[in-house]
Amino acid sequence: YKRVTVKTLVDMKAHGEKISMLTAYDYSMAKIVDGAGVDVILVGDSASNVMAGHETTLPITLDQMIYHASSVVRAITRALIVVDLPFGSYQSDPKEALRSAIRIMKESGAHSVKLEGGKEVKESIKRILHAGIPVMGHLGLTPQSIYKFGTYTVRAKEEQEAVNLIEDAKMLERIGCFAIVLEKIPSDLAKKVAESVSIPIIGIGAGHDVDGQVLVLHDMLGMTHEFNPRFLRRYLNLYDDMTNAISQYVSDVKRVDFPSDEEQY
Ligand code: KIV
Ligand code: NA
Repeated sequence: YKRVTVKTLVDMKAHGEKISMLTAYDYSMAKIVDGAGVDVILVGDSASNVMAGHETTLPITLDQMIYHASSVVRAITRALIVVDLPFGSYQSDPKEALRSAIRIMKESGAHSVKLEGGKEVKESIKRILHAGIPVMGHLGLTPQSIYKFGTYTVRAKEEQEAVNLIEDAKMLERIGCFAIVLEKIPSDLAKKVAESVSIPIIGIGAGHDVDGQVLVLHDMLGMTHEFNPRFLRRYLNLYDDMTNAISQYVSDVKRVDFPSDEEQY
């Protein structure tokens, strides 16, 4: 695919081709992620944790999300860009939700937005969709509701929550969402959801019987090491590699090994 669009993703599901998605929050990393062939780049509100060092995703603002998104937009040539609507920018009423989504689209140049929740945010999603802005849903463990859950453990293990989740997924498809993220739910439930809808289901901690996978970039590169959920596969140990490189630099400067004769004018 030359340029990934929301239509491409639905076609990929129809053809059984898995969708790869990663987060990015800045130009330099987004350029690498896009160049490596990732289908979807999520400018996640996980930037609140990863980039700003907050404990939760709640503090990040719409202006900050737009800053991250516009940096990512300048880097990519192929991937579809999805931007999280941050906590507080869409829950009050559908008009505010639409205003926030419009700001993201206009000021960053991104291609779509994502927001958390099912029937509670149905009217907001409809309003955004009516303006021609593609929306990705997000169900299961929705981190903006962490104080309601009280824990980051697996969601929808109980029957009623599982039933509600399937209902919400079907509703999101019906009103026109182009895909749904399912976070940290039992794999058999995720499989059931993926089979119940024709839009792609992108999992994180939701097993392999879904239509694609997403991880937080800094987690899969091993830049973070306090966060160790079962679903996280680390492809590098950048925390250690970067620490070694930087302490080598410090030592080279102290010993006047750097710069060498060749590295000066
Ligand atoms: O903000 C984020 O990184 C996310 C993914 C974990 C799906 O929403
Ligand atoms: Na998010």
